[in-house]
Amino acid sequence: MRVDYALLARTVAALTAGEDDAVALMATVACEVHHADDRFDWTGFYRVTAPELLKIGPYQGGHGCLVIPFARGVCGAAARTGQVQLVPDVHAFPGHIACCGTTRSEIVLPVRDGAGRLIGVFDIDSDQPDAFDAADSAALGAILAQVFGRQ
Ligand code: SME
Repeated sequence: MRVDYALLARTVAALTAGEDDAVALMATVACEVHHADDRFDWTGFYRVTAPELLKIGPYQGGHGCLVIPFARGVCGAAARTGQVQLVPDVHAFPGHIACCGTTRSEIVLPVRDGAGRLIGVFDIDSDQPDAFDAADSAALGAILAQVFGRQ
């Protein structure tokens, strides 16, 4: 099954309308995105909880690392640079945190509030190599902006 991003955006908008609690929003987005596409094997948020520090937030899939410093891994790189990280081969990414041995590729997007402050990152891991492209980045970024940018 391949995600229909227009439908996903509408579903997320309907489910999250009127809600402003970040954890409630993250839980809903993680759930809806995770179940929308067979490529997605781990889907969830890491939240900025202290300077240069990410802690795990709502997710779907197997357990993830609880704490990721900005200096480490793909999630850390997204938080540090503020740029989407598209990693076609995690084994070729220096410092990749191998939480699950079956992960082959991933995408991590920065998550910002309405004031532009970084509140976390959104991480999707896939067991398939080269699973994500610019279309995923654009559509997921739009959903995140729509949900978290209004806060
Ligand atoms: N994708 C990550 C870590 C995987 S999690 O613990 C689910 C990284 O290298 O940032």
